[in-house]
Amino acid sequence: MASQVNSPLPPGFQLEQYRIEQQLSLGGFSIVYLATDAEARPVAIKEYLPNSLALRKAGEIEPQITEEHQAAFRYGMKCFFEEGRSLAKLMHPNVVRVLNFFRANNTVYMVMQFERGRTLQDFIQRNKGHIKERFIRGVFTRLLNGLREVHAHKLLHLDIKPSNIYLRNDGAPVLLDFGAARQTLAQDTPMLKPMYTPGFAPPEQFQDREHLGPWSDIYSIGAAMYACLAGCPPQRSDERLKKDQMEPATKRWSGDYSPHLLETIDWCLNLDPLARPQSVYALQKALLTRARHVPNKTPASLLERVGNRLRALIGRS
Ligand SMILES: Nc1ncnc2c1ncn2[C@@H]1O[C@H](COP(=O)(O)OP(=O)(O)O)[C@@H](O)[C@H]1O
Ligand SMILES: [Mg+2]
Repeated sequence: MASQVNSPLPPGFQLEQYRIEQQLSLGGFSIVYLATDAEARPVAIKEYLPNSLALRKAGEIEPQITEEHQAAFRYGMKCFFEEGRSLAKLMHPNVVRVLNFFRANNTVYMVMQFERGRTLQDFIQRNKGHIKERFIRGVFTRLLNGLREVHAHKLLHLDIKPSNIYLRNDGAPVLLDFGAARQTLAQDTPMLKPMYTPGFAPPEQFQDREHLGPWSDIYSIGAAMYACLAGCPPQRSDERLKKDQMEPATKRWSGDYSPHLLETIDWCLNLDPLARPQSVYALQKALLTRARHVPNKTPASLLERVGNRLRALIGRS
């Protein structure tokens, strides 16, 4: 059942007081729709529908869950629900706003404020290798305000990556898609494997889960900043543990970005959880320090870079 694709609810479908307009995305764990509420205001609705456990055929509304997957499906639903309940308490401009939560069609729905913009992942794809330092500092400093609020509520995100960071049209970042429920599930129910993108998850997420903490989300923030520079994720952390081939940011982009930003990225990407910034506040402080000296330029051309390296090799500046 693992590779099946679930059919979305059809446009025009009335889901409680909401009308489904169109499907926005289809992940392995859920479907996100654009819908309108009773006052015709747009909302985003996320439907719990893990495709390893539930199948909804075209034209059907309720998913089919085989007997053997019932327990795992229900457990996942409970965690999705708990997660939504916790998220609903969070009110922060840089965290997606949960408006409602309900059960229907034998599954669960989370209603969110509809955001207009695009994901940071999209932005990285379109601007490969040309993202300015000022942009990175601006986006992550504000995003960290949101993450600080999450941690203050004793929650961990555990799935921070560019495709879960939304950039509103006015440039403000919004944290989406809290994977914590999924992560909890992964331990107990192998059928609900976490769907984290390799490269963004810290090593403790693969193994010593008792070591998870704010520093785990901070690793992912570091990986997301690294991806802004590289245009792709860093080497996955479980592989780094065996043979670390990730070139430190300080080496790879020396001369292209301020040493201070590069050092901060490498600090977050430490494999040892204790060697990273231990709190969002500590990281924010680092990101804000010396921000006044940020060069507002795109990365140096290849020629400039080769020149820099050569100069470094022969010891001249
Ligand atoms: N509140 C929202 N407003 C607008 N688009 C959203 C919203 N929530 C999710 N999306 C869109 O749906 C995509 C998937 O949502 P996400 O919560 O990351 O679910 P998953 O990755 O589990 O499928 C996002 O990348 C974004 O494009
Ligand atoms: Mg996502």
